[in-house]
Amino acid sequence: MFKEKNVLVMVSGSVAAYKSATLVRLLIKSGANVRVGMTTAAQEFITSKTLSILSGNDVLTDLFVGHTSDIVHIDWAKWADIIFVVPATANLIGKLAQGIADDAVTATIMASTADKIIAPAMNDNMLANPAVMRNIATLKKDGWFVIESAVGFLAEGYIAQGRLPEPIDILQQSAVRLRAKNGMLIGKKVIITAGGTREDLDPVRYLTNRSSGKMGYALARAAAEMGAEVALITTIVRENIFGVTNIFVNSAQEMFDVATHEFATADVFISAAAVSDFKPAEIAVHKIKKQADDGLTLNLVQNPDILRTIGQSKKSHQIVIGFAAETQEILVHGQDKLIKKHADMLITNDVSQSDTGFSSDDNAVTILIPNRSPETLPKASKIDIARAIMTRVITLK
Ligand code: C5P
Repeated sequence: MFKEKNVLVMVSGSVAAYKSATLVRLLIKSGANVRVGMTTAAQEFITSKTLSILSGNDVLTDLFVGHTSDIVHIDWAKWADIIFVVPATANLIGKLAQGIADDAVTATIMASTADKIIAPAMNDNMLANPAVMRNIATLKKDGWFVIESAVGFLAEGYIAQGRLPEPIDILQQSAVRLRAKNGMLIGKKVIITAGGTREDLDPVRYLTNRSSGKMGYALARAAAEMGAEVALITTIVRENIFGVTNIFVNSAQEMFDVATHEFATADVFISAAAVSDFKPAEIAVHKIKKQADDGLTLNLVQNPDILRTIGQSKKSHQIVIGFAAETQEILVHGQDKLIKKHADMLITNDVSQSDTGFSSDDNAVTILIPNRSPETLPKASKIDIARAIMTRVITLK
């Protein structure tokens, strides 16, 4: 997202200013060209020397001193593709919301048409101040992407909201948001299932499978990047993705209940979970004990088929997508499932290969859509495969 982009990091005078150094570092590592501007107060907290060395460029601190160009703020404003204001104090937020351009930082920001991201960091009472809240709301209305400050241990010595989120989180949220700007799925709700279901046997044991949930999480990220509101119904705890609500479940029945409920208000359903076809007929109340030399026979019954149920009940505007993990005759089984599950798209993957499919970071899939020729996507990272799948999804209806 930031590779070869011109990124301006504007730092203001909060105790969290030291985190701007990490942000600059991460941006450089991701291939961005980085320049830094600092308010006078910011220089009380971190030196311009540090940020100049990390960014590899002179730091903008003054409109009139130390520049050959007469109109440095215009030059910098034009240069920037993306502007981060991290951390942003109440004072700087107020100026930006009210259109005050009385120093190098505010004048440059105001002269720029770049994408603008701001991360407020301040005392909890300052953050809750009606004037600050008004100014933050104004910035949102003006098209700024405001990163919500986190609840955490403040410099004041207690836990409250006002903390600057970690730079890696700021970058991840911004990447999703910047991609979603012209997203084809803005205003759409996408629900995705992920991970292997767990079927309780007794209070300590359950039946499950090798699914890692990685493909489902990658699809959730790809859908969020296109601006969708995403609900990820998952058995696996992996990461929080901006724009994605994680709903944790265990059994296929729980997944069924949540998925059918969410589907009522959804536009797209993607079934990437490895749902157990069977569950124990009964869950033992106490741990099942070993009996002399006897083995144990499990009595299993069928789980509901989430994908088929949702496929059968879909309305004309709703899109339903399934996955098929196969080890042989992949296309034959895939075509069969496409029809049986009433799906609009079925993605087959060969789970017999160790370098793709379950648990792997990569995948290789074939996309089946009724009345279209199968399309094979060669081995790529799961996020790239997920992005490719989502671009096919928007061609469906
Ligand atoms: O029939 P099979 O399990 O092979 O189909 C795979 C697809 O069906 C996957 O998308 C999987 O998530 C979904 N599925 C389901 N409910 C089940 C079994 C599978 O939604 N009980």
